[in-house]
Amino acid sequence: MRDVAFEVNGKACRVAVEPRTTLADCLRHDLGLTGTHVACAHGVCGACTVLVDGEAVRSCLTLAVQMEGAAVTTIEGLSSEDGLSPLQAAFRKHGAVQCGFCTPGIITTMHALLTTEPHADEARVREVLSGNICRCTGYMAMVAAVLEARAAYQGAPA
Ligand code: FES
Ligand code: FES
Repeated sequence: MRDVAFEVNGKACRVAVEPRTTLADCLRHDLGLTGTHVACAHGVCGACTVLVDGEAVRSCLTLAVQMEGAAVTTIEGLSSEDGLSPLQAAFRKHGAVQCGFCTPGIITTMHALLTTEPHADEARVREVLSGNICRCTGYMAMVAAVLEARAAYQGAPA
């Protein structure tokens, strides 16, 4: 076992993990953050996406021991006691959630996109969204929600 210390959703944590433990398993099983979902476990579907130092990362392909000193944000860290984030609220408004399994990975991916590219156009949103597989296939509503949420990111520090 190895000790690894990093930040998750703004809080410092230290966990003992096997060197082979993925970040996804560490978040879900060691830290109880089950909002991060695992589907393919092979880096294909994007369901497990979290933010590592602000970048969208597939946590099924990332080892927990690689997180030493990093700042990780999961879907649980994107809303607050005050309620849903503007992106989450837009998803709800547009009915962009069906079964919801892919949703955490899509919200984290789109949050990373809009943080760095708050003026992303529809083609860019679709391009980045294509890396996340939704088996319920409701992409039209997701695109509409992301485009509407852009306003909340414009003018915000990247
Ligand atoms: S579970 Fe990680 S990309 Fe599919
Ligand atoms: S909403 Fe069901 S997999 Fe995307």
